[in-house]
Amino acid sequence: MYFEIVKKIRNILKEHHKFYDESLPMIASENVSSALVREIVASDFQHRYAEGDIGNRFYQGCKYVDEVESIVVDLSKKLFNCSFVEYRPISGTIANLAAYASIAKRNDGIISLSVKDGGHISHTEISAAGILGLRFYYFEFDQNRMNIDVDKSIKKIRRTKPRIINLGASLFLFPHPVKEMREIAEEIDAIVVYDASHVLGLIAGKQFQDPIREGAHIVTSSHHKTFPGPQGGLILTNDEELYKKFKNKTFPGLVSNHHLHHKAALAIALLEMLEFGEKYAKQIIINAKTLAEELYNYGFNVLCADYGFTESHQIVIDVSKLGGGDKIAKKLERANIIVNKNLLPWDDLKNVQNPSGIRIGVQELTRIGMKENEMKIIATFFKRLLIDGESESKIREEVINLRKNFKYIEYSFVKNPAYKYYEFEVIE
Ligand SMILES: Cc1ncc(COP(=O)(O)O)c(C=O)c1O
Repeated sequence: MYFEIVKKIRNILKEHHKFYDESLPMIASENVSSALVREIVASDFQHRYAEGDIGNRFYQGCKYVDEVESIVVDLSKKLFNCSFVEYRPISGTIANLAAYASIAKRNDGIISLSVKDGGHISHTEISAAGILGLRFYYFEFDQNRMNIDVDKSIKKIRRTKPRIINLGASLFLFPHPVKEMREIAEEIDAIVVYDASHVLGLIAGKQFQDPIREGAHIVTSSHHKTFPGPQGGLILTNDEELYKKFKNKTFPGLVSNHHLHHKAALAIALLEMLEFGEKYAKQIIINAKTLAEELYNYGFNVLCADYGFTESHQIVIDVSKLGGGDKIAKKLERANIIVNKNLLPWDDLKNVQNPSGIRIGVQELTRIGMKENEMKIIATFFKRLLIDGESESKIREEVINLRKNFKYIEYSFVKNPAYKYYEFEVIE
């Protein structure tokens, strides 16, 4: 009897794969990994434990885990040009929690971006930083430039003396002022943490700022947004004392099982970025700028027109005059264009369900081979659907057609269908 439900679940998953195979996935925090990554995610590593450090585990059976995790460490250091890496956090949020817990104690302060200004919840009182009982301050924000207002924030930091100066964001159009924040950190004995989750693939491809070189003490990250790995987190530093502390907070502090299959698969993504990262990251930024410009020229209120719209994978549009982020994101979804609604700095928090913005990321479309021409076509879809009022079904049909030419993962060692459902053979 229950096997029917098993079949149903598999079919739901297959439908999901088909939907993505016929859509334009433009959620800025997602990506699609190569078949090489997915093969390892499906491996026996997913069943195992490897508590402890490489070569010194609490469990037997780890000799191959040790081997591959040594490679992960070496490749991470090489790609990010740093001396120490903690690869075991199972997510970006856990990476942040481990980093914060290693440098701050209850009632110490943290300054970060508020969620409205683009900060991630884990930087705030409602999530990871909150459960540590820190005091919260938020950067002053320049809404025109969609970036931290350096002078006003420095004044606030001098006054409030936080222990952690937390850079990085979920809405992240332009590089953050790392150098300036490091200078003030030296003055007040603070630690600069840079959450690279959104831009790790761009950093790997050397097309965004280099936070460690610019002065961040610690870089935390997830490795599945612009960086096209399996889901998981990382912490990087050049400071051995800090490394020892966040290593301990990671294990035994926050993980027992570090999802070995994801970490082994991370090795492949690191290699893909070493080999193809620069080309991939360059194309992402070209695509984002092209799409932003086209949409702007069609009359959309794309933010930061005076500053080139973006230097990352993201673009942000204020759609309040078109009915708000909720209505527009749902309408786009019915045409197989997947974006998310997003709070903007001027939004009232009461409107969290229908904020003014939508956030768009082009990293996944880039990963499946799209370039400037496709960005121009996609901009026409937005215009025809949201400005001219053409039907959702007509645009959906055209989206499906466009996607017929973009079925494969690029920037990898092999060419495999991006949204294939890898079905195991089963015997009833
Ligand atoms: C800036 C930032 N940090 C951390 C995270 C959390 O990462 P994870 O989902 O891996 O916990 C996100 C997620 O979108 C993010 O945008």
